Amino acid sequence: MIVAIDGPVGVGKSTIARMIAKEAHLYYLNSGNFYRAITLKHLERKGDFSDRASCIKTAQETHIDIKDGVFYVDSIPVTEGELHNARIDMNSSRISAIPEVRSIVDKRIVEIASGMDIIAEGRDMTTVVFPDADFKFYLDASPEIRAKRRFDQKLDGLSYEEVLESLRKRDENDRNKAVGALKIAPNATIIDTSYLTIKEVCEKVLRAVKRQEKL
Ligand code: DC
Repeated sequence: MIVAIDGPVGVGKSTIARMIAKEAHLYYLNSGNFYRAITLKHLERKGDFSDRASCIKTAQETHIDIKDGVFYVDSIPVTEGELHNARIDMNSSRISAIPEVRSIVDKRIVEIASGMDIIAEGRDMTTVVFPDADFKFYLDASPEIRAKRRFDQKLDGLSYEEVLESLRKRDENDRNKAVGALKIAPNATIIDTSYLTIKEVCEKVLRAVKRQEKL
């Protein structure tokens, strides 16, 4: 079974997908971490993000795996913390706009997911990577609400205005990609999370899944 979830940055996809994975005994796959891992490696190589060829080369040379919930980059376990900072946020947005990088990532995600019951979240899980997913959800909330949630987490010492500006920029990049742009799949269930708690969103998703399939 494949449950695919898409939505803009900061809408709570990771937290929600992780909770649902636990509840429904699904394997959790965070596709954004694939772009973040390639970005991390490119930063470590002191690569130039405006040089497409070198970004593609880094993507080709990055081996990503997930085993027992641990994310490995070139066989080294990498934590969420290592993949989340302002530099990786901005540059992963740029690197993910390169179609060749996307096709490398898409291929690896499909390989990792094959034969498993998974919940995958990102920007193009419902549209490009798993167009035949059993369940498709699109989570949404206004930029201001998403920025406020991010700001309240006090992740990187940025002001609310800075968080909002970075989020808007990344929204724009996500929506204007030549390939894999963020959009709502025609048959996706849209959930506006603006005034819902994480738990309420999880319940909505689980109810929709359970209605059609016994978990
Ligand atoms: O979900 P996230 O913020 O961790 O994703 C990191 C970057 O990768 C972000 O700029 C959006 C991009 N991304 C993408 O283009 N396609 C996906 N399926 C997942 C993430």
